[in-house]
Amino acid sequence: MRLHSTAGSGSPWGMDDSTPKTASPNAPGTDPKAIPGAVVTPLGQTIYLAADGFLDDLVAELGDVASVDGRLVYVDGPARPAAWAQNIWYDPVRIDFPSIKGGAKALRGIQRNWALWSQRHHRRAALIQENLPHVSAKPVVFPSPLPTAPLGSWTLIDESTIIAAAHCSSPFRNGEVTFVENRTAPPNRAYLKLWEALTLFGEQPGPGDRCLDLGACPGGWTWVLHELGASVVSVDKAPLDPAIAALPRVEIRQESAFGLKPATVGPVDWLCCDVICYPTRLLRLVKEWMDSGLAKRFVCTLKFQAETDHETARAFAEIPGGRVLHLHHNKHELTWIWPAK
Ligand SMILES: C[S@@+](CC[C@H](N)C(=O)[O-])C[C@H]1O[C@@H](n2cnc3c(N)ncnc32)[C@H](O)[C@@H]1O
Repeated sequence: MRLHSTAGSGSPWGMDDSTPKTASPNAPGTDPKAIPGAVVTPLGQTIYLAADGFLDDLVAELGDVASVDGRLVYVDGPARPAAWAQNIWYDPVRIDFPSIKGGAKALRGIQRNWALWSQRHHRRAALIQENLPHVSAKPVVFPSPLPTAPLGSWTLIDESTIIAAAHCSSPFRNGEVTFVENRTAPPNRAYLKLWEALTLFGEQPGPGDRCLDLGACPGGWTWVLHELGASVVSVDKAPLDPAIAALPRVEIRQESAFGLKPATVGPVDWLCCDVICYPTRLLRLVKEWMDSGLAKRFVCTLKFQAETDHETARAFAEIPGGRVLHLHHNKHELTWIWPAK
């Protein structure tokens, strides 16, 4: 069942309202702190912003949820990895404030840069945000390094209460990474997924690197890898787009990715896989390549059909040194990156 909790509606967690629950007043580190004109109280919780359309997957992944408010999921205790979270708000606080200017002043008193997650009292929230330093929402030109400036997130839960976190998992506003798109060269929009994965990876293939692109057709990922200067072995049962097939450093192998033995390919700096297949099959393929020791890095898409295979997603997450995440450009998919920084 998909759960849709909205402000004012009954909570699916049996709570009376959708107002986030604060931690027990006796919990460690939750003493209120007065900053001029406002009272700041640590929640003793972590807040997870669900990827758009995947709230139920996030809740299933997290398990013991304290409350759900729109796409914000409140969980007691410190943060843990959550693939279906688009952003994680670390150590959030509740700010009781008297006025629009007072709310903005309280946020500024904590740190400079803030992204609004607006789910109610939109006008009032926008006025508070207008009283904060401007944060650029410009699309990223790929390749670009990850932004380094801390970016907090905040939301208004009623007219005089803010929930805010100075530290979040994503350096992008609400975890939304957008790019200056190339609407002419790539044959489809799948290239945006790889742009996002490589941006978050903090590292890209370059000249001299050898990449394996499994499930390459029509060629969006192959185009990305080639454009970065790497050579690419492109594998698919279907033919590549002719413009991609004609690129100088692209070697085409029109066959199944699952029949391909690592030893017949040789060492690769990057193994990228966007094959449509069951996640369990992808896991077997990844293990074969990891056991071979021939692939240095992986970027793989786990694709789900009607039901999410949480068990296999967990198995990927448990591979030491890797990271499973739902990219802003993922659909009902997750991306596994290894090794992750
Ligand atoms: C989502 S598309 C990949 C898009 C590609 N990453 C791009 O950027 O253009 C999935 C691809 O998986 C391929 N595929 C499905 N089964 C395969 C298999 N056993 N071996 C290789 N490719 C396969 C399909 O032919 C299809 O082209």
